[in-house]
Amino acid sequence: MNQKDTEKKLSAEKAVEIIEYGMTVGLGTGSTVYFAIKKLGERVKDGLKIKTVSTSNSSTDLARSFGIEPLSIDNAGIIDINIDGADEADRSFNGIKGGGGALLFEKIVALNSKKNIWIIDSDKLVNQLGNYPLPVEVIPFGYKRVFGILKKYDPAVRMKDDGFYKTDSGNLIFDLHLNKIEDPQTLDAELKQITGVVETGLFIGIADTIIIGRKDGTEILIK
Ligand code: 5RP
Repeated sequence: MNQKDTEKKLSAEKAVEIIEYGMTVGLGTGSTVYFAIKKLGERVKDGLKIKTVSTSNSSTDLARSFGIEPLSIDNAGIIDINIDGADEADRSFNGIKGGGGALLFEKIVALNSKKNIWIIDSDKLVNQLGNYPLPVEVIPFGYKRVFGILKKYDPAVRMKDDGFYKTDSGNLIFDLHLNKIEDPQTLDAELKQITGVVETGLFIGIADTIIIGRKDGTEILIK
């Protein structure tokens, strides 16, 4: 396993240690969350009883492959702990998510959760957000107008195979190349005012705990 995957696994498994019998757990999306779902599956096999809510079709499939059947979010009630990855996180507990395209469901699950834990490898902890392209979910109808409005942010429509990438809701993702985000809150508000923008990958003040995988263990930031 390479260094990055080792760090992802360490952070994911540390988060799963916190899960207790009877909890409702949010399952994020991505390659770091893969290790968390796998570990949760092992604990469930050993007798841990939990309910889960998934943030994407891919995480639902993964959970099922490890013997976990997620509930629909509207039948699950309040989620105790949501475990998710991030593409970038800063020490103010702000971050960029959506590299895997699941930002809308991820934000909804996060906002339904009492506690949000991010699991990241050490490269993702940054002093300033924005080096990672910011994903923005946009409805397909009239997307060219939204693209034009966002032109100043150097957008790229995310592609897959030979067509547009589509989210689990059938929407498009525009990746904005910002390099630096001086004021995440103001940018988020500006983007969300554009009709046709469904959600942004800016997660501001949502995470409570960030678990950073390091080569020989984990560093835990608590808000
Ligand atoms: C998916 C996400 C992921 O959490 C984020 O992209 C991190 O993924 P990975 O753990 O694979 O690096 O926001 O929408």
